[in-house]
Amino acid sequence: MRIAIIGGTGSLGAGLALRLSKRHEVLVGSRDAQRATKAARRLSDLAGRTIAGGLATDVATACEVAILATSFDSGGALLSSLEAPLSRKLVISPIVPMKVQAGLFVYTPAGVSAAEQAASILKESLVAAALHTVPAPVLQRADVPLDLDVLVAADSRQTFEDAASVISSMERFRPLYAGPLTQARELERLVPLLLNVAKLNGLRNLSIKLI
Ligand SMILES: NC(=O)c1ccc[n+]([C@@H]2O[C@H](COP(=O)([O-])OP(=O)(O)OC[C@H]3O[C@@H](n4cnc5c(N)ncnc54)[C@H](OP(=O)(O)O)[C@@H]3O)[C@@H](O)[C@H]2O)c1
Repeated sequence: MRIAIIGGTGSLGAGLALRLSKRHEVLVGSRDAQRATKAARRLSDLAGRTIAGGLATDVATACEVAILATSFDSGGALLSSLEAPLSRKLVISPIVPMKVQAGLFVYTPAGVSAAEQAASILKESLVAAALHTVPAPVLQRADVPLDLDVLVAADSRQTFEDAASVISSMERFRPLYAGPLTQARELERLVPLLLNVAKLNGLRNLSIKLI
């Protein structure tokens, strides 16, 4: 599968590119072509495989599936430019709008979740929310299999299944269906909770495994 990682210049994008490139053709996208090329070169060296890079709109046009590994695009400027390139394609959003307030992380959506905001702009895309609770530093150690649960919200079971097939192509990840895209609010909210628990208890890179 040809997977575009929009924001592949960042930490989560790097981890996803390193893992997904074992089984898929990966393209990293950026708002800046030079940043994308530089990141792609670095990731290719690390992975020992070719990972291509380009402008976000170009990799979005070329891909079959896209992952939005970007900071919260509150104004929707990047997302608007991706509406046509990502039409009728699966789009996975791990985005978590949050900030630090009085020493703790707080969830700061603009009304709806980031995934719902993405779906409202990417009108013809099939949007799933997932991968919020997978910490980038452990993801980047691509040789270490991660025995993690990945909660996925999507409006149809088919979109869940399509996202699940991408997620489970990363060794030992277990995708679990969490309901329609409105449930992305609950999934995104988990991240400040995990970060605060980690901070207050001297822990790092907390994730989720349901038992
Ligand atoms: N880090 C984690 O452990 C982790 C885990 C799960 C989920 N997440 C979520 O995944 C997303 C990416 O996390 P990250 O830590 O990789 O973030 P990051 O390194 O801060 O940013 C990723 C990329 O987002 C792009 N970007 C920055 N501001 C933007 C804007 N206003 N609009 C559109 N794109 C913008 C930048 O790419 P260009 O400048 O090259 O375009 C940047 O390299 C975040 O929403 C985060 O909440 C992170």
